[in-house]
Amino acid sequence: MQFGYYMPTRIFFGQGCVVQNQAEFAKWGKRALIVTGRNSARVSGALQDVCAALDEQNIAWEIFDQIGENPTFAMVEAGGAAGRNFRPDMVVAIGGGSPLDAAKAIAVLTVNEIAAAQLYDGNYAVEPLPILAVPITAGTGSEVTQYSVLTDAERQTKRGFAQASLFAKAAFLDARYTQSLSHAVTVDTAVDALSHCVEGYFAKRATVISDALALEAIRRFGEVCGELDKPEISLAVREVLLYVSMLGGMVIAQTSTTAVHALGYSLTYFHQVPHGRANGLLMGEYLQFHAETAPDKIDCLLAAMQMQSIDEFKQWLDNLFPGKTCLTEQQVEEYAVLAAKTANIANTLRQPDHAELKQLLRKSLIVGGEG
Ligand SMILES: [Fe+2]
Repeated sequence: MQFGYYMPTRIFFGQGCVVQNQAEFAKWGKRALIVTGRNSARVSGALQDVCAALDEQNIAWEIFDQIGENPTFAMVEAGGAAGRNFRPDMVVAIGGGSPLDAAKAIAVLTVNEIAAAQLYDGNYAVEPLPILAVPITAGTGSEVTQYSVLTDAERQTKRGFAQASLFAKAAFLDARYTQSLSHAVTVDTAVDALSHCVEGYFAKRATVISDALALEAIRRFGEVCGELDKPEISLAVREVLLYVSMLGGMVIAQTSTTAVHALGYSLTYFHQVPHGRANGLLMGEYLQFHAETAPDKIDCLLAAMQMQSIDEFKQWLDNLFPGKTCLTEQQVEEYAVLAAKTANIANTLRQPDHAELKQLLRKSLIVGGEG
């Protein structure tokens, strides 16, 4: 047995946790740049709670709310410029994966005047500002990871960078903030969280601890997965999903993601398929791909999901995401090439070659024609 474990984020979980633990913000200085999306932080109630907590602690704050879906280099560079104007001591990130990941980049760019493309080099002259994270979706797990995933237009994909200094100092998880999400976003993000656990479980970098966290998360997910296709998702279920999402983040912080994310990025970049849904379209065949390589792990995963077979797992996902993305043979070829360039592929327990990547896409999606 050989493993390491590092997860330095202080976690506050539960309804009311932002206000109840507001003294945490004061540990990190007197000025806070709040990084968020245009609307969702306000609608969720999280922004109001954070501002009230900062006011109570006499912390000056300014809002940068220009982060959209799949954040670009231009967005985080604008955030860095806003940060250099305001001179914050900390960055408070509120949002789904896009604002949380963008906030990590902005925490670097505020104190290092570099181009966003240089974030991937990892050699920052000045340590990033401390980050405090308030997730308002249950999916990304970014509040407990060292990753930031941005859209790299030059490479035509979403691409992550990782730094231990990008772990949030504290994360505040209150499931009430996820109640204003649409049903579709709730489902997409929940399946992203599941994908983090499943991929982490079938990663070469999996450890005994990441496996324990992944199985706990998958087991809790299995208890509520039948609720996802109902029109209303209760607060109690949302609380479980937020817990699963956090555990999924803790898993991939150790293991990173694998082939599902690598292939899914092209569906998001070129076809605007939401990130979690893209993973959901691919995850069934991904399990099938591992059936002979890791039969014991497949059995444990299915038992945790309370399912009898991989076919049942696929059927559940098919029901959740009716309608497949259609690709041409040319696109299958291109997306397999793009995926193969990522580190995710080498990290996949059964490492797919080019032909197998194409096969994963063909079996998961509708493919026909030459475009
Ligand atoms: Fe993800």
